[in-house]
Amino acid sequence: MDELIEKINQASYEYYVLDMPTITDQEYDDYYNELLKLESNYPDLKREDSPTTRVGGKVLDSFSKVEHEEPMLSYDDVFNEDEIVKFDERVRKTVNHPVYTVEPKMDGLSGSLIYKNGKLVRGATRGDGIVGEDITENIKTIKSIPLVLREKIDIEVRGEIYMSKKAFEKCNIERKNKGEKLFANPRNAAAGSVRQLDSKVAAKRNLDFMAYFIQNCDKYNLKRQSEALDYLKELGFVTNYKLNKVASNIKEVLEYIEEIGSKRDGLPFEIDGVVLKVNDVKDEVELGTTNRVPRWGIAYKFPAMEVLTTLKDIKFTVGRTGKITPNAIFDPVHVAGSIISKATLHNEDYVLEKDIRVGDVISVRKAGDVIPEVVEVKKERRTQELEGFNMIHNCPICNTNLVKKDANYFCPNENCDSRKIEGLVHFVSRDTMNIDGLGERIIEDFYNMNFIKEITDIYNLKDYREELIELEGFGNKSIDNLLASIENSKNMPLANLLFALGIRYVGKKTAKILAVKYKNIDNIMNATYDDLKNNRDIGEIIAKSVVEYFKNDANIELINRLKDLGLNMKQDEEIMDIKEDFHNKVFVLTGSLTNITRKEASDLIGKFGGSTTSSVSKNTDVVVVGDNPGSKYDKAKELGITIWDEEEFIKKVGDINEKV
Ligand code: IVH
Repeated sequence: MDELIEKINQASYEYYVLDMPTITDQEYDDYYNELLKLESNYPDLKREDSPTTRVGGKVLDSFSKVEHEEPMLSYDDVFNEDEIVKFDERVRKTVNHPVYTVEPKMDGLSGSLIYKNGKLVRGATRGDGIVGEDITENIKTIKSIPLVLREKIDIEVRGEIYMSKKAFEKCNIERKNKGEKLFANPRNAAAGSVRQLDSKVAAKRNLDFMAYFIQNCDKYNLKRQSEALDYLKELGFVTNYKLNKVASNIKEVLEYIEEIGSKRDGLPFEIDGVVLKVNDVKDEVELGTTNRVPRWGIAYKFPAMEVLTTLKDIKFTVGRTGKITPNAIFDPVHVAGSIISKATLHNEDYVLEKDIRVGDVISVRKAGDVIPEVVEVKKERRTQELEGFNMIHNCPICNTNLVKKDANYFCPNENCDSRKIEGLVHFVSRDTMNIDGLGERIIEDFYNMNFIKEITDIYNLKDYREELIELEGFGNKSIDNLLASIENSKNMPLANLLFALGIRYVGKKTAKILAVKYKNIDNIMNATYDDLKNNRDIGEIIAKSVVEYFKNDANIELINRLKDLGLNMKQDEEIMDIKEDFHNKVFVLTGSLTNITRKEASDLIGKFGGSTTSSVSKNTDVVVVGDNPGSKYDKAKELGITIWDEEEFIKKVGDINEKV
């Protein structure tokens, strides 16, 4: 049995790692079947690390949490050449002539494998980087992961768990045949499979593992990342040895990115960019890690991909303000990792300018990798006369005549069903009252079934518990969760409630300013136009809109009813953590910050009572300047505005770990 295991492992190594099989599939199957037979005849002699264990078997109740011995970090993402060049410049401040390894960025999920004395003892997901989930049982089913290493050492190896394009297709065909929901992309499929509680199911999904990192590689006397990659291969791991490269300067790095980009479609797996690591371990140590990301590596992400499809229809939707939006409805296509079938066309001018017509071949992409957009019309593909776009003049929902304001048309009917539904959707969404379990579809259903017609109805939903349980898709538990989430939302901060009400021009930021300044809803209701306008961050339009909102009897009644229902109407001083250096001050961030992201910096400013804007003016109090700041820095100097560098900013924040 030992001999058979030896032969099977050697064959797997040649097949998966070296890509050079020396035996036929038939011979492999013969060894495997013979081993299976012996194991069933002599169960006591079956080895724990036998390759036959890869079929899975254990079914878990849940995954246990495991703490990583050292945090599993990830790199900062960059999106263009400039940022790569800047990264190199930063590295060169510390390291003379840095050499980089450049590796395809596998599009899966990262995993950590721990071996003791050469035997796989634990596999874990990244989780939040500190604590992951123990997925050992599923990891063992991945054929390209060695159960036993070719050396008896203790080691932690990190790499990407992924699904090949072929396995993904097969998996989705099977799901389709069974009437199950399809996975949108191989990454989701891999993530879903690795979190299967039944390892037999995971085994069938044909996952793969690409090793790219050895934790503490100096322990094995490895002086370079490229040596670590070679060593991984020697130990029995699949590495990207055919694609990984060592580049001795940034020019070579950029050339390589170009090259790998052109090979991308032909690869058997999905990649979403290129990872760049300083090769020399000594340099890596010297560069170190911020409290968030390593300074010695970076992930370059490919730009959003464009895909061609056919425009089937242009459908109009009505938003909560009454704004009419034309939307492109097209044949579903895979773009940058997910399936999309619609995109906003913004307004009449946008459609006319691009001359978008139903029946056209259009190219679509995901802007910033998230929001679908129509890039252009392939006019040369128009084979027949297509009807030009016609804007509608009546609301598609309530038929009221539309009113045009600047580039947009509006439905002026405040009782338009679509406006009301969208208003309710806004009220419960994450940035406002954050009520879990009331998604867009459910709001629409509840509206049509008369459970929720007005905001206050949300808080009376508990009276209909028995009826709701009868509805399809609901059970005791989901209703209880929903009702609990509704109750919890009563304690939301005043700023969230203000934003939730949907007062025209009062967005998230203005709502916060109003809450901090006026402390409670009554003060806001009583504020005059002049008083409001006197605030530096509140312009005439907002001031007018707020006054008008609270002049309307229906709105006052709504507030009173919400008060009766027990919603929080006061600014909780505890929420704000006022710091003198920040309180009531307007900040502008410019240049690239190294130890903190812009978003984190601006969240901290908000937390301490300040606000952030994008352009420098005489109203700006402080400009925080990172590397390569540009014109905002010059302007700040010209206007004599206080300037802090990143170090100063972090000092003022106090503890940078005190993130919001
Ligand atoms: S090295 C300290 N190498 O992309 C980070 N990561 O931030 C060590 N990835 O989430 C990661 N291919 O899951 C590394 N060849 C590669 C990679 C890779 C894909 C993923 C990884 C991480 C992100 C990089």
